[in-house]
Amino acid sequence: MKYFLTLLVAFSLFACKDNKQQEPFGKKTESTTTEEETTSNYTSSEKIGEEIFNGKGNCFSCHKPDQKVIGPSIAEIAKIYADENGDMTAFLKGKADPIVDPSQYAVMKTNFYITKHFTDEEMQGVVDYVMSFKPE
Ligand code: HEC
Repeated sequence: MKYFLTLLVAFSLFACKDNKQQEPFGKKTESTTTEEETTSNYTSSEKIGEEIFNGKGNCFSCHKPDQKVIGPSIAEIAKIYADENGDMTAFLKGKADPIVDPSQYAVMKTNFYITKHFTDEEMQGVVDYVMSFKPE
């Protein structure tokens, strides 16, 4: 029995060591993430978008993550834009037709005075943020 235990211990030690060796090389160079980024799954662009969506863009008052309120849910918008390969940037600039809920377009249109003044970075962020809700 004692012999068996010693063997077991020796084996698990060996197993541990083996595990360590399998860690991919070059992992360090890849992880230049700051502490803040590792606690969230968002890319930096999505973060910019999230801030605008829930802040000065005021989008959140009509768009919730997965529940329709005044506007369609963010998840629904993302799914339809992914399925139809829609151009959300063009839509938010007032240059493309609505593809999610054209019957309510007039309500959404009132926001173009905000979205038209987004910088390119802000626009990309908002689009990336919305598209991060698309189903896998
Ligand atoms: C006053 C309520 C309201 C606010 C605020 C609002 N939306 Fe909307 N949004 C809607 C409604 C209603 C629709 C459905 C009509 C439509 O599809 O165009 C919609 C649709 C959309 C769509 C889909 C458009 C399509 O192709 O049909 C996108 C993308 C969108 N909103 C993004 C945004 C963003 C980004 C903001 C913030 C800058 C925002 N919305 C703020 C009400 C709102």
